[in-house]
Amino acid sequence: MGPGQEGVHVSSPDGRVQVTLKLEEGAPYYQVSYSGKQVIEPSKLGFRFKEAGPLDANLSIAAHTESTFDETWVQPWGEVKEIRNHYNELRVDLTETAEPAREMTVVFRVYDDGLGFRYELPQQENLSSFQITDEETEFALANIHRVWSIPAYGDERYEYLYTESPLSFLRVRMSRAVHTPLTMETVDGLFLSIHEAALIDYASMTLKATGGDKLGCDLVPWSDGIKVKGSPPFQTPWRTIQIAEKAGDLITSYLFLNLNEPNKLEDVSWIKPGKYVGIWWGMHIGKYTWGSGIRHGATTENAKRTIDFAAQHNLAGVLVEGWNVGWDGDWSKNGDDFSFVTPYDDFDLEEVSRYARAKGVRLIGHHETGGAIGNYERQLEDGFSLYHRLGIDTVKTGYVGWGQGIERRDEAGRLVGMEWHHGQYMVNHYRHVVETAARFHIMLDVHEPIKDTGIRRTYPNMITREGARGQEYNAWSEGGNPPEHTTILPFTRMLAGPFDFTPGIFDLLFDDYRPNHRVNTTLAKQLALYVVIYSPLHMAADLPENYPGHPAFQFIVDVPVDWEDTQVLNGEIGDYVTIVRRDRDSEDWYLGSVTDEEGRDLEAPLTFLETDRQYVAEVYADGADADWERNPLAIDIYEILVDNKTVLELRLAPGGGQAVRFRLAAEGEE
Ligand code: NOJ
Ligand code: CA
Repeated sequence: MGPGQEGVHVSSPDGRVQVTLKLEEGAPYYQVSYSGKQVIEPSKLGFRFKEAGPLDANLSIAAHTESTFDETWVQPWGEVKEIRNHYNELRVDLTETAEPAREMTVVFRVYDDGLGFRYELPQQENLSSFQITDEETEFALANIHRVWSIPAYGDERYEYLYTESPLSFLRVRMSRAVHTPLTMETVDGLFLSIHEAALIDYASMTLKATGGDKLGCDLVPWSDGIKVKGSPPFQTPWRTIQIAEKAGDLITSYLFLNLNEPNKLEDVSWIKPGKYVGIWWGMHIGKYTWGSGIRHGATTENAKRTIDFAAQHNLAGVLVEGWNVGWDGDWSKNGDDFSFVTPYDDFDLEEVSRYARAKGVRLIGHHETGGAIGNYERQLEDGFSLYHRLGIDTVKTGYVGWGQGIERRDEAGRLVGMEWHHGQYMVNHYRHVVETAARFHIMLDVHEPIKDTGIRRTYPNMITREGARGQEYNAWSEGGNPPEHTTILPFTRMLAGPFDFTPGIFDLLFDDYRPNHRVNTTLAKQLALYVVIYSPLHMAADLPENYPGHPAFQFIVDVPVDWEDTQVLNGEIGDYVTIVRRDRDSEDWYLGSVTDEEGRDLEAPLTFLETDRQYVAEVYADGADADWERNPLAIDIYEILVDNKTVLELRLAPGGGQAVRFRLAAEGEE
């Protein structure tokens, strides 16, 4: 049967998500409905090129094929162990009806929790290398009630507070575009999030209001204005739309991972999640400096002390920043000065790594590039090979520098142009680093990264990243992060993947160092963040000397970072969220619940626990009088017996939270 006027259709395995591709006078459009309601109205598809005519009209459907895929795969580490990848696929081959008769395929994969679609430009006679000046993909939204967005093209990259607004705000108030994942709620109470999966050799997609309720794909350009340079055969990243009836269901959707290629690394036994401490927060609050001098943080002695602390409390790793020469002066502007092989004189790298090995602690290396990509790429092999030789299997990288601050140079060292952190040039750089690190058996924690689009499925050594406004902003930014921030992150940035937020600050006011700054949470909320925010590397971020004597520290010691299962018990974007996760290596469950500036009582039915078993709930709750502003340290720590019929009452203080460990009751405890 031919496609006819109505176009070609495909629906999700459960039939609720329906997608149609149709041609209107030869121009391709797609539309999406959920349970009979239109979520995406007819929306344009196509490309514009620099030296060729647009590929967005005069098309006909040459062929279309449908298929089904259903497979369950195991994550080497993650928020759940097993993920089902179940979709119906529709491939639509389009051909221009007039010369040059170019061909393009649009592929849809439709899941119960949303869809992805991408373009393929097959090998063909009339299309050789190309320069894309615009990807015309549109998202014509219907009935959007509110949107949570951060601006794209800003100097702070992805490190912004989210704005909740009507969709029209994006049209009227945003000067340029917003980042993805872009999460929104419809008037009917559905939740949608637009993002992309498998961002490889392409520019990242931002979204721009194009009129009415339409958003258009706005690719981050090269310095010469071209968006993407390539040649067939070529495929774009997947454009994804998650659809959920409850906000929490966005969190437990693994659509982006399913749309990435399976693990390419044969042996992954060297990839290990873990918690870490470090010589880090001290620099952010001004106790130490990265650069040399009397307050230099990365000294041999300080590193050994920190290693002792990690060993004593069973924390897997120690991060040392400021160990290498290049930090003196304004390091964020002098990235070319960084050496990735030369330690400062007061830091004996060989000795510190020997000491760490002897204590069974993983040293976490650090490569801050200051965005000087040429300098970094020249030293990449040497830097990783040095770490590999010393048994250092995790490296935190950093790319501090303004949004378009990446200098691209030619082979003779001449400046060619200033590139964005998120254009095709840098997408390829980040990917190159992941592949190089994998060769050296090194895990990566990337700060100022490219956004997560699920590459960790293919390269599980890409273990965590920043790419949002983390804890560090509480140390030095005006006002820090308001209590609401961490109730928005799980539904926006966190949908994309792990986030090295660095929770666990206990000295919330740090008046000895920066009296005008503070962390805007209660102590219990710092603990809850270990569960609410997913990261296979989680930091105990405070100065090690701030933990001893605090019974609350036991939760950080106990909480795992690798999970068998994850469930969201409740949540409203920007208000509160409660997440439970089951440890991969035991029968323990952990709960984290956080609220915004409002105190609230929530109910947590413990139906996830095994039936007919008794558990001890080790509760870390806000004290009766706790309040993030007035009384942040008040915490109640107690144990109660529970089972899967118990409904736990969570009492969260304003700006507060609660953390609970559930362990099987031992004999005598029942
Ligand atoms: C920014 C990173 O987010 C932070 O964690 C790091 O300490 C500094 N850059 C220095 O590399
Ligand atoms: Ca940062």
